[in-house]
Amino acid sequence: MKRVAVVTGASGGMGRAITKSLIRDGFFVVGLDVKPQGDSFEPHHYSHITLNLTKADEVDATFSEIDSRFGGVDALVNNAGSCFMSDFPEIPADEFELQMAVNFSSAFYCSQAAVKSMLKRDGFKKIVNISSNGAYNFDVFDPPHYRASKAAMDTLTKDLARRYAKEGICCNSIAPAMTETPLFDLLTEETLNKAISNMPQGKPMQPSQIADWVAFLISPAGDVVSGNVIIINQGRDVR
Ligand SMILES: NC(=O)c1ccc[n+]([C@@H]2O[C@H](COP(=O)([O-])OP(=O)(O)OC[C@H]3O[C@@H](n4cnc5c(N)ncnc54)[C@H](O)[C@@H]3O)[C@@H](O)[C@H]2O)c1
Repeated sequence: MKRVAVVTGASGGMGRAITKSLIRDGFFVVGLDVKPQGDSFEPHHYSHITLNLTKADEVDATFSEIDSRFGGVDALVNNAGSCFMSDFPEIPADEFELQMAVNFSSAFYCSQAAVKSMLKRDGFKKIVNISSNGAYNFDVFDPPHYRASKAAMDTLTKDLARRYAKEGICCNSIAPAMTETPLFDLLTEETLNKAISNMPQGKPMQPSQIADWVAFLISPAGDVVSGNVIIINQGRDVR
């Protein structure tokens, strides 16, 4: 029986790469996204469920469906997210609430539902939260509601790591800097060029490079790693 990994935001740049890495590593992947999956993964490797992850009732119903159709959840990657670009102090309340909902509430709801399923599974289980370097590097452009949503996620990471250590659920965050995905379309050309030129290697990272780190944490090598926020940024923060 294949182990089951749930990847949120599976239709996006990072989500597709993470899905590919986990399929390569032998997982059956259930992709969750508000959009359909553009890649044609084989049905014995991948199943897609379309939902809005900011709705707690949709998330609950989806994880019940995953339990009954695929047997349970061994790994969860909370990857769905966006970066809304209004700047402080002119961030509309609805944009603030949506930012927190898309980046943080979605991960919170999915983690609650997944943990219930994981507690019934054997072996180590893994939660990987895709945070952002923007929560830690204040020289870059990220607006404060984006930073705060990812900082909230990283606190959830630490809580879950501590709470479920004895049950073998390992939870870590990966906090990437500039990675070439459709998210770049949300930035002005000027902001994008400046951020890329600040990357030490003079170029953005590729989604597959982040996906390999996610897959590493989910592999047996990650069984002894929990509660960390792993910064991936080509060494940009070294001063
Ligand atoms: N690209 C970067 O430079 C970068 C850097 C740091 C962190 N991140 C984080 O990486 C993650 C993946 O982003 P990406 O760069 O692949 O962007 P992306 O826009 O390509 O993918 C994001 C995916 O999330 C999905 N999504 C958004 N809201 C949703 C909702 N309410 N319900 C269901 N699905 C929803 C989108 O449909 C999309 O497929 C995000 O959490 C982002 O904050 C990205």
